[in-house]
Amino acid sequence: MIRINPHYQKLQANYLFADIARRVALFQQAHPQQSLIRLGIGDVTQPLPAACIAALHHATDEMANAASFRGYGPEQGYDFLRQAIAAHDFRARGAQVDADEVFVSDGAKSDTGNIQEIFAADVRVAIPDPVYPVYVDTNVMAGRTAAADADAGGRSPGFVYLDSTAANGYVPALPSEPVDLIYLCFPNNPTGATATREQLAAWVDYARQNRALILFDAAYEAFIRDPDLPHSIYEIPGAREVAIEFRSFSKTAGFTGLRCAYTVVPKECMAWDADGQRVPLHPLWMRRHTTKFNGVSYPVQRAAEAVYSVEGQQQVRALIDDYLANARTIRSAFESMGFACTGGENAPYVWIDTQRDAWAFFDLLLNRAGVVCTPGVGFGRCGQQHVRISAFNSAENVAEALQRIRQALQ
Ligand code: MLT
Repeated sequence: MIRINPHYQKLQANYLFADIARRVALFQQAHPQQSLIRLGIGDVTQPLPAACIAALHHATDEMANAASFRGYGPEQGYDFLRQAIAAHDFRARGAQVDADEVFVSDGAKSDTGNIQEIFAADVRVAIPDPVYPVYVDTNVMAGRTAAADADAGGRSPGFVYLDSTAANGYVPALPSEPVDLIYLCFPNNPTGATATREQLAAWVDYARQNRALILFDAAYEAFIRDPDLPHSIYEIPGAREVAIEFRSFSKTAGFTGLRCAYTVVPKECMAWDADGQRVPLHPLWMRRHTTKFNGVSYPVQRAAEAVYSVEGQQQVRALIDDYLANARTIRSAFESMGFACTGGENAPYVWIDTQRDAWAFFDLLLNRAGVVCTPGVGFGRCGQQHVRISAFNSAENVAEALQRIRQALQ
């Protein structure tokens, strides 16, 4: 008898953004005349930077020619892209990362979801709350938890939750019980909060002292404008031994529909086997990646490389500046309506304390304003009275959405 993986039965029925899409589709069926403004899922709206388009065209022409055609590439990415990433994203900021420590992939969602496979089933996992649901769901699928506990706000027994609230500036405190695998994301999805060098250094020290590992999701790094904030965990001394970092071209350069990201696994990064022997993670991830992934397409890797050209850098900065301007507008509009907000300064998300049930506020914005947001409770119990508003839309749509919201809340 073929049996299912029983851990899948512990998952919520739908993935958060699929659930929202379903509710929005039902609303649209019932109200076909209502124009919707989507400030929910963090999906970019602006076209790709011109430098990336030119690189895509050029690479496509190469594929049309027998002399320059390429079939399978290296699973971990072409050297031209890995070199560009290591030089521009890390060494230019004083962080030591070598090209062969970079694993190019189709998305940070896949990488942050897949990475847990290389760790033991019984590692103790620390999960911030609120959090990007992929970290939770993939560990549930792997059997690291019992079924979610409705009385505990849907939390899964087995995780160590790290509360991120207004009281701690949305940067969680170190755990009070031992943990092995720690997920951190800064600038944060969903709160938009950022972590200082000192705050990250405390986590690196914790991991070094406790033989733990940090999975650092820096998908929103390009939105950092405060010059004092670290962009990479490898700017923190000692992090190479205890941290894996995830980056994405999705939000940085508008690649959500093109798909390209990468993961850095430093060669010093270690875990332990059942006999207490140190095992380097770089060859383990290499083994997993080359077995289960066949590489990002050549034209897409050329487009990603173009992000690092002089024009590419200018175009990407302009793109992000526009989204950041939206984020500032959203935050100041909600603050002027009396809501406490965080984020939106070095991140494309504004996290709003609604002082009421998150799904009720979601429904209110959908029904009365035709605006889609993301209910904070979808990211965890600490998001129960919050919504996340995304800045990924045009300035015109953001202005229109805020006007409608103002009216709806009067
Ligand atoms: C989000 O809205 O949180 C993100 O778009 C989800 C993702 O990047 O997968």
